[in-house]
Amino acid sequence: MTKFPLPIVLLTAAVFATASQFSQAHEGPDPLARWRFDSQGVVTEAEATTLRARRGPDGTVLGKHQMLGEKYEEALFLSGKMSGIVLAEDHNEAAKFLPSESLTVSVVVSVDRPEKWGGLVGVIQDNGSNESGWLLGYDQTTFTFALRGDNGPGKLTYLKGTTKYESGKLYHVVAVYDGKTMQLYVNGKLDAETTAQSGPIHYPGKAPFMIGAYRDDNEFHSQRGRIRDVVLYDLAAKKGWVEHDYEHNADLAKLPPVEIHEPLDFVIDPYLQFGTQTTMTVMWRSNRPAMGTLFYGETAQCPQRIDVADLKTVHEIRIEDLQPETQYFYRTETRLTEEGPPLLSEVATFQTAVHKDTPFAFAVISDTQGNPTVSGKLAGLAWEQRPSFLLHPGDLVSVGPDDSHWTQHFFPSMNPLIRHVPFYPVLGNHERNAQYYYDYVSLPSPEYYYTYRFGNAQFFMIDSNRNVDPESEQYKWLEKTLSESDAAWKFVCHHHPPYSSDENDYGNLWKTNKGTRGDTKARQLVPLYEKYHVDIVWNGHIHSYERTWPILENKAVNQGGPVYMITGGGGGPLETPGPIRPFFMNTVRRGHHYAMVRINGAKLEFQAYDLDNRMFDQMVIEKKTGQDQE
Ligand SMILES: [Fe+2]
Ligand SMILES: [Fe+2]
Repeated sequence: MTKFPLPIVLLTAAVFATASQFSQAHEGPDPLARWRFDSQGVVTEAEATTLRARRGPDGTVLGKHQMLGEKYEEALFLSGKMSGIVLAEDHNEAAKFLPSESLTVSVVVSVDRPEKWGGLVGVIQDNGSNESGWLLGYDQTTFTFALRGDNGPGKLTYLKGTTKYESGKLYHVVAVYDGKTMQLYVNGKLDAETTAQSGPIHYPGKAPFMIGAYRDDNEFHSQRGRIRDVVLYDLAAKKGWVEHDYEHNADLAKLPPVEIHEPLDFVIDPYLQFGTQTTMTVMWRSNRPAMGTLFYGETAQCPQRIDVADLKTVHEIRIEDLQPETQYFYRTETRLTEEGPPLLSEVATFQTAVHKDTPFAFAVISDTQGNPTVSGKLAGLAWEQRPSFLLHPGDLVSVGPDDSHWTQHFFPSMNPLIRHVPFYPVLGNHERNAQYYYDYVSLPSPEYYYTYRFGNAQFFMIDSNRNVDPESEQYKWLEKTLSESDAAWKFVCHHHPPYSSDENDYGNLWKTNKGTRGDTKARQLVPLYEKYHVDIVWNGHIHSYERTWPILENKAVNQGGPVYMITGGGGGPLETPGPIRPFFMNTVRRGHHYAMVRINGAKLEFQAYDLDNRMFDQMVIEKKTGQDQE
């Protein structure tokens, strides 16, 4: 394909303005590098996508993207989710393809989402006093051109255009620098210029050479939109060349805006919530509003179905009238329209809650937070032990109001465990009571406190961020619910620990002996635990492991009091016990871990495992036969 038809090539030679160019008997300026985002240029093999340069370095395409066909004027659509094209992680590796004294960069792109710091092509560092490189980009309203020259003010100049871009519309944008003047052209017309910089381009020591992203050492802002052409010259184009280059692309720039839809996909894979002996809830999230269908049954063909016609992104389908202690299969279909092709999930399994006298087991993992590598490994090890469900004492994510922490950290790391068993969480402080928690869990109202039965055990789940004093809603509910329980085993779960030996969360024990050794707010609930014979209280918050002796009236006993456990080593940054052993301490251990609890009638076995799956603590509780309470 000839990008420059002959008349333009000849004209191009005449309007480029460096002496060296004129001194060469040359038909037109050769670009330093050129990329065309068509089916020859963008090649996907074995799940990796490569950008093959017409000239210059090949690139690696990051993040979600899709090739658009002729209907969209053949272009690469970048999703804007950690997407972009890396031409070189270190621009020095591509130095021969980068302009030094002068530059012209011409692109045909659409910007489908404004950014404070948007990047289309360039090499940049902008960190405090370290400002260097160049970048053709955009901000929330216009295109921009940033550059630092060796003889300029010692920092970048961000030249802001005047033409407001329209989302989804293709633009021809050119940035020019001749050593004295920075110019920005939009659709063939000069949009802005400045003489704030001069001298050769001042490059950073190291920075990535990127297309479709603003990326430096501490920032990565991805372009959402189309990209069709990028051409880079080490010459400064004159106005006439830019006008002619635009004319060649004018048909594209005159097209109306289009909204690109990404293919229907999972944002969160199907997972299970709140299973009972006769019900189970399946949830998932799609990237576009869609209809959801759940297929399930006692065979892998999943012969029964439940349809939800409303268009939703967070799908929640409850199955009722199931048989207790029975293995079921399920899968989901998600569709944009009745006739549309379905997005299929794999077939997974679940088991309804067991009969009262059947043994069962569950895993405990807390404070998974923003460490999917560790939390994923622990959840994988827990899944290998085939628990009946997962108990999570809070701090599922590191920042509750940040959706990406749910979609990128918590949910992916908990699979395959939560595809096969439900998880029962409480709110930690890191959730910040975010709406995402309530959107992504399906628990009895009001969801921040609830109870559930499994086998011969009952679980009482409390939000210890909220008020739990004796006059509070939760305290009164807990007292009533505990007093009505006939379960053989009673377990409580809330995030903040009534007893903890942590070195500094409850007074810095390296500097004072006056620490509270636990959360005094949460400790207001302890009289209820003692009065109603709670067996174990599971907490998190302290990113460490601790198991107490049974405690009654603030004294360690051998039996007859609740045991308190902190299982906060699910992924968050680790914490350390203080220097002395308080009366309640049985075992402490700094390190990431998960725990397993196995119950067979009147016998409970507990084990805690480290990240290498080595058991480091265990406990057995045996109740007198035929007696629910000790
Ligand atoms: Fe935490
Ligand atoms: Fe916490």
